[in-house]
Amino acid sequence: MEKIPAHIAIIMDGNGRWAEAQGKDRCDGHIEGVVSVKACIKAARKRGVRYLTLYAFSTENWGRPQEEVDALMQLFCASVTKETPELVEQGVQVRIIGRRDRFSEEVRERLLHIEKSTAGGDKLTLALAFDYSSRDELVRATRAIAAKVESGELSAEDINDEIISAHLDTADMPDPDFIIRTSGECRLSNFLLWQASYAEMYFPQTMWPEFREEAFDKALEVYAERNRRFGVL
Ligand code: IPE
Ligand code: IPE
Ligand code: MG
Repeated sequence: MEKIPAHIAIIMDGNGRWAEAQGKDRCDGHIEGVVSVKACIKAARKRGVRYLTLYAFSTENWGRPQEEVDALMQLFCASVTKETPELVEQGVQVRIIGRRDRFSEEVRERLLHIEKSTAGGDKLTLALAFDYSSRDELVRATRAIAAKVESGELSAEDINDEIISAHLDTADMPDPDFIIRTSGECRLSNFLLWQASYAEMYFPQTMWPEFREEAFDKALEVYAERNRRFGVL
């Protein structure tokens, strides 16, 4: 396969439905979903993908039942902490995108620690979107830019594509080439709206807990067939 996307972003959807279909608790679906996360990180690294962004928790997901929110917080922290040594070994640099102000002090510290310990990874950048939404990111970026205009560091005329991109959580990362959403839903649900401008999209029916190496490779085949034009002939 020659056409490997440099940056793949995945909306990991369908954990709850997968669990319910088996008569299990929704949280069992999230636990099984972590296995898919590990499989996709490995596959991405193996295939030479340089950036992998995973949508793990949206700013809207706080509206779910408290029990599920708590389980997701716990699972996220425990999994990333547990996997940190292996991620370091694999050369994976972890970066967390999204808000941080709504996490407990303990969670915030853990996330910082994970980012610090994996900072030297140069094989794959793994961006985990946690308490993330694109509109929230754009609001924060706009405020940061406005503050610079107010202080005179920037003028209004300086604001362009690059300046906006540089104030997003994904600053320094290329835009995603390929966005995958599992479970058959065909929407972005507030994910990377600015960055997705020319991304190819793929909506497989597979539920996230079943999206493993084979499904990942199939997605790469789908991408390789696409003809990207970027508005020019
Ligand atoms: C994705 O699975 C995980 C998160 C959004 C945290 P869902 O929990 O949305 O599963 P479905 O869509 O209800 O099946
Ligand atoms: C999007 O999935 C968020 C994540 C995968 C983290 P949701 O399940 O929350 O989105 P909707 O509600 O179906 O749009
Ligand atoms: Mg869902």
